[in-house]
This record gives sequence, C-alpha cells and structure tokens, in this order.
Amino acid sequence: MTLPAAAMAAAAAAVIVGREGEAEVMAAALAAGRSVLLEGPPGTGKTTLLRALAAGAGVGLVAVEGNAELTPGRLLGHHDPPRVLADGYRPDGFVPGPLLRAMSEGALLYLEELNRVPEETLNVLLGALSERRVQVPRFGEVVASPTFRLVAAMNPSDPVGTGRITPALYDRTCRLAIGYQGEEEEVEIVSRVSPGPAWLVGAAVRAARLSRSHPDLRVGSSVRGAIDLVAVARALQDLRGGDGRVGLDAALTALSGRVRVREGVARSAEEVVAEIWANVVPGDPGGSAVDPPRKGQGPGRPPSVASRAAAAFHH
Ligand SMILES: Nc1ncnc2c1ncn2[C@@H]1O[C@H](COP(=O)(O)OP(=O)(O)O)[C@@H](O)[C@H]1O
Ligand SMILES: [Mg+2]
Repeated sequence: MTLPAAAMAAAAAAVIVGREGEAEVMAAALAAGRSVLLEGPPGTGKTTLLRALAAGAGVGLVAVEGNAELTPGRLLGHHDPPRVLADGYRPDGFVPGPLLRAMSEGALLYLEELNRVPEETLNVLLGALSERRVQVPRFGEVVASPTFRLVAAMNPSDPVGTGRITPALYDRTCRLAIGYQGEEEEVEIVSRVSPGPAWLVGAAVRAARLSRSHPDLRVGSSVRGAIDLVAVARALQDLRGGDGRVGLDAALTALSGRVRVREGVARSAEEVVAEIWANVVPGDPGGSAVDPPRKGQGPGRPPSVASRAAAAFHH
C-alpha cells in the first residue's frame, strides 16, 4: 500500500498558507516510500505541514522530541518493571515506544531535533529504515506496516550541531530545506492563527522579521513571536482599557526570549526588541522609553499609517 500523494497535498493546501511546492514534494517523497529529513529553523510550519499530510493520507502521526535522553529503549519501548518482577519478560508486559507504535500502526514517525539524538538511537533508526523491521530484545521482531515512514526534523543552526548525523542516515533519507516565508504569507499566517487589527498584525510580523536581520542578534524570532505579540497585545488592551505601552510591552514579552544577542554585543535582548518596535511603530507611546533610533531611521520621518493606527488603538 502506498500513501495517496494527491490527497496529502490537497489536505496540506487546505490548512497551510503558501508552501504548495514543499507540500507536494513531501507528499510525493512519502508516497514514493521515502523517509524525509526536514531542515529549517523553529516556527517554519514543519509540524503543521506534517499533521496535514498525515491527516490527508488517513494515517497517524507519532511525534517524538529528540534529545539526549532518547535512548534506544525509549524509542523502541520497554518491559514494564513490575510485570517483569511478577511474570518475567512476557510480550504482554511490553510497553511499545514511539518507533514500534509508528511501525505497527503504519503511522508517520515525526522525530524533531534529530541531531540531539544519541548515536545508538540513530543506529536503531537506521536499521528500522533499511530493514523495515526491528529486533526487540526479549520481545521479538516487529515488522513495519507498509505506510510507516520516518520524517525527521532539525534546525541547521542548533548549537548542538548537525554534524553528528551519520552519512548513512543522510544516504537513507530525502532532504527538504524549509526557510522563513515571505512577509505577506506571514501576515496571512498570523491573521489566521491570532487575528487582530491589520496594523497590529502587520507590525508584529515586521518586528519579527527585522529581528532576523538585526546586526546585534544572532537568532531572530519566528512567526510564532508575531502570533504571540498580537495575542498578548489584544489581551493587554482589554486589561488596561486603552492605557498606553500595550504594543511595546507585548513586543518585549513575545520577542525578547526568542531572540539571541550576538556574542560581544553589550545590549540586552529587551533593548534590541524595544529599538525594533520603536522603528516599526514610531508612534507607540512606549517608544519614547527606548534608545534613540539609529541615524537615518527615526526622527524626521512623518508618522506612518501604522503609527497613526497604533495611536488610535491606544486611545
Ligand atoms: N505556512 C503556514 N501555514 C499555516 N500556519 C503556519 C504556517 N507556518 C507556521 N504556521 C503557524 O505557526 C506556528 C508554528 O508552526 P509549527 O508547525 O509548529 O512550526 P515548526 O514545527 O516548524 O516549529 C503554528 O501556530 C502554525 O499554525
Ligand atoms: Mg514543530
């Protein structure tokens, strides 16, 4: 049995903003029986895309987060200790782990942060991919259902490093690199996930995007930061009943923990986010409390539409 590429792509198109090409390539690779390695920063829609593809195919999605504690035993499953003490190693005392569940159900196994997984665990995965069966000590052999696939994801700029992935694994998977989407698509994503006034959604997306290219930042915010910014600003607005600083406070709380200041830069994440927000919405009352805008970016410019709308939002 194969996976239905057309139904998968259609299901993705129904919920994913943009990314038609990527959805088709993923659907085709999975339908062709291939496992896939997705490479991209967090918040680029990888999980959302996978869920939609699995739903379109009518198969399950078993998601696991890769980390140093994901031992072969955790991935495969384990014998329940009290049952072992009482009855010894019996098949019905075995608790299957995510790999065995995905293999026996014919689900997609979605393994995030693949590069953080210990070497022994990667070897178990390799075996499962090339043989489509695994030997589980004191349990027996588990054969993969025909629709079982592995989709692994990793962030290429993870400080843990992606160099640990063995060539053997690269050689057994297809690879798809996923980057940030364009501004219009990100505005559409935020409007769907966390609706708000158009100026606010636009400003939140602009601020998240500026954080990705800011010279003082090593890591910027994904669209998730913009989604949170809009949600928090709206809730703060309700709470404070029109008192100022809503936008700046929302930007600080939504973005400052997501960005990473470059080594050697003597500014805090808050200072950089406040500067970005002041440039995006110069009329925000909170903007006066931050660093003076850099040369050529700030004063002297007429207030933008966003800033006039922001002022209206505050009063
Ligand atoms: N292309 C997209 N279409 C619809 N929603 C998206 C898209 N990209 C990101 N999102 C939204 O952004 C958030 C993060 O997406 P997610 O799939 O969890 O990212 P990742 O798994 O890459 O970290 C979710 O709320 C998701 O709905
Ligand atoms: Mg994810």
